[in-house]
Amino acid sequence: MDMKRRSFLTGGALLTVSGIVPVASGMLASEQAAHDKYKATQVPPPDKLLDSEPLLQVPAPDSVGVSFAVNALSVGYAQVADNPEMKNARQYVCEGMPLAEIHDRVLRVRMDGLKPATKYWYRIGAAAVTYPIGYWMKPSPIEWSAVHSFTTPGEAAASHFMVINDTHAQWKPFAMATEKMRELQAPVAVWNGDASNTSRTLEDIVKIFLKPGSGTGYGADTAILFNNGNHDFRGQANIHLDQVMMTRLPSERSPRDWALHRNFAIRQGDIALIGLDTGEDKPDFHPAAGGATRFEPYRAAQVPWLEDQFKRPEIAQAPFVVAFVHIPLFDPNPNANPGTLLEDYAAWQKQAAELWGPILAKNRVQLVIAAHQHRYRFDPATATRPWAQLVGGGPELGFQGNTPDDGKFPTVIEGKVVDGKLRITVHDVFKKRVAGEFSFPSRLG
Ligand SMILES: [Fe+2]
Ligand SMILES: [Fe+2]
Repeated sequence: MDMKRRSFLTGGALLTVSGIVPVASGMLASEQAAHDKYKATQVPPPDKLLDSEPLLQVPAPDSVGVSFAVNALSVGYAQVADNPEMKNARQYVCEGMPLAEIHDRVLRVRMDGLKPATKYWYRIGAAAVTYPIGYWMKPSPIEWSAVHSFTTPGEAAASHFMVINDTHAQWKPFAMATEKMRELQAPVAVWNGDASNTSRTLEDIVKIFLKPGSGTGYGADTAILFNNGNHDFRGQANIHLDQVMMTRLPSERSPRDWALHRNFAIRQGDIALIGLDTGEDKPDFHPAAGGATRFEPYRAAQVPWLEDQFKRPEIAQAPFVVAFVHIPLFDPNPNANPGTLLEDYAAWQKQAAELWGPILAKNRVQLVIAAHQHRYRFDPATATRPWAQLVGGGPELGFQGNTPDDGKFPTVIEGKVVDGKLRITVHDVFKKRVAGEFSFPSRLG
């Protein structure tokens, strides 16, 4: 055995796996040449392989996803540790089994096996990929990001969340909203739909979520619970939105609910957060859908899923339950568009309201937080609709078209348990004032 081979074997996996030298020593000269060439190949990474800040997402008590942009065909990594120095960090590679995904623009890594309600430090990394010998893949040295942190959800986590919605790639209001998010420092933010306008290419989606025109790093230390809005279904690229915005783990839902990739129900301290998807704001028979949508069965499929969430002890026993939908489930105007007509578009989603509303009522859900109307509104609970509804503002800054309108401002809705009550604060991030405050007693009382 010459020295070259010895150095390969002692450094390689063959010896550690089998420990049987005769197998390796039977290597053909041509094989040895391939090993030598592989080992000798230097793969310099591009100048700047990482092309965005990390975006934390799909938080669960035992896992958190992260996606980020890269400049070349790469494999992605994340390291997670219980200390900011990253001592004894656990390393993860891109999601996918058996093949970890490689991609030339967006990488997604799932950090799993985590403990609930626990603070972690993490960094992301990427290695450019080349193929020096046939199909033998060789990654470059890993380029690592700065260290960031997150705290996993769970019953012992902080009872604190924030909500943004209808950002529509408008970077001035997005700057106002993300600045408020930074100030509030809740461990989780619900992005309640209409991040897109119409996304035709993957690059459109990369710009919206990973390389926004303001608020850089908004999701590097706060996990995002993304809920679809009607605009997030529009354009060819949004069919593959999960290339950038990861879906819930299959283990979080039963096989019956396989299609419900984004619905979430997690405990954030004393608050259960439930995400429901209202879909498009037009019926499936509308020509805009081209006969290629199934929103009506999709809303119906969320019924058994929603019912089952309240059978989970941690959801059933939550002192506070808040449901998130993009299109409201109620409108105070009896003539408001219910989303079932050919004309115009939904002001509220009648099918979802009829299917889900009674389940929310039966389970004493205190509040539905909606979006879509681009105008902040609060609908108090009534005897027949025991859940209240809060509608977030939109991206317009004091104008409706060219007409001044004081009711048009973006909001960050904050929920926090204070003195045993759920306190909801609606921050008008345009005029930097509190637009509304609401308080809800425990549903268990
Ligand atoms: Fe919108
Ligand atoms: Fe909308």
